[in-house]
Amino acid sequence: MFPELLPAVPGPIGVFDSGFGGLTILRDICRRLPDYDYLFLGDNARAPYGTRSFDVVYRFTLQAVRYLFAQGCHLVILACNTASAKALRTIQQCDLPAIDPSRRVLGVIRPTVEILSERTRNGHIGIVGTPGTVASRSYDIEIGKMHPDMRVTAHACPMWVPLVENRETTTPGARYFVERDIRVLLDVDPDIDTLILGCTHYPLLSDMIRAALPAGVDVLSQGRVVADSLADYLRRHPDMAARCTIGGTVRYLTTENADRFSEMASMFMGHPVQAVQVEL
Ligand code: DGL
Repeated sequence: MFPELLPAVPGPIGVFDSGFGGLTILRDICRRLPDYDYLFLGDNARAPYGTRSFDVVYRFTLQAVRYLFAQGCHLVILACNTASAKALRTIQQCDLPAIDPSRRVLGVIRPTVEILSERTRNGHIGIVGTPGTVASRSYDIEIGKMHPDMRVTAHACPMWVPLVENRETTTPGARYFVERDIRVLLDVDPDIDTLILGCTHYPLLSDMIRAALPAGVDVLSQGRVVADSLADYLRRHPDMAARCTIGGTVRYLTTENADRFSEMASMFMGHPVQAVQVEL
C-alpha cells in the first residue's frame, strides 16, 4: 500500500473529470444520494483530455485517482467518458491491486450501455463523444457484447469540449459546430432514435443538440443513469457504503484557477460554490 494513503477511515466519494463536464454527473448523484459526502476534482488545467493519447489520459487519470485516494476516498467515479474509455480498465486491473485492492474506481460507459434496451425502439444508436472515446471503440465493444442486434454509429466532436470549457455554449459558433456534427452523424444513419451524449461535457450543450435533432430522437445524457447505477452499487456493496461518509457535503478541487471554476460550478450547481486550486 502506498504510504500517502490514509488508514481505512471512511471518506467522501470521489468524482473526477478532466474539467467542468463531471459536474453534470455530480449534480445528479447529489440529487439521488444527497446524504453522502463528495469530493469533486476537475483537471481543468489539462483539459481537454479527448484529443490526448491513450498513455497521457491514463497517466493523468491515475494521478487524479491517487490524489483522491490520498484525500481519503475509497470509491472514485470517473465522471469522464474519455478516462473511462482509456484508463479505467488498466487502473482496475493493474494499478488497484498494488495501490489498495479494497478501493474501487467506477466509470460511466457500462451503466450507460446497460440501459439502452429500455430506451431505443428501433435499435439504431448514435454516439457523440471526444475523439479519444470514439477512437477507443469502447461503446461499440460494450454495446456489441450486451446488445449484439443494435446498430451503432459514433461520431467524434472535437470542438464541443473546448466550447464548454471556454463557456461558449450559447454562441452562434457553438450552434454551427453542433449542427454540423449532428448532420454528419445523421447522414451515416438517418434512423438513429437514441443519441448517447458520450461525453459528460455535452449536457451543457443539450438545448442546442436537441434543437439540431429531428423530433422524437431520445437524447441520453448520463447523469441520472450513473446516479442510479451508483445507488445500486452501494446497495449491493454495503461494505463500500460503510466506507463512504455521511454528511451531505460537497467539496470542489480544480487544477486551474479556483475563482473561474467556482463561478462556473456555482452557476451549474445552482448555489454558491467555493473551489480550491490543487496540484496533482
Ligand atoms: N468530460 C470528458 C468526457 O466525458 C472529457 C472531455 C475532455 O476532456 O475532452 O469525455
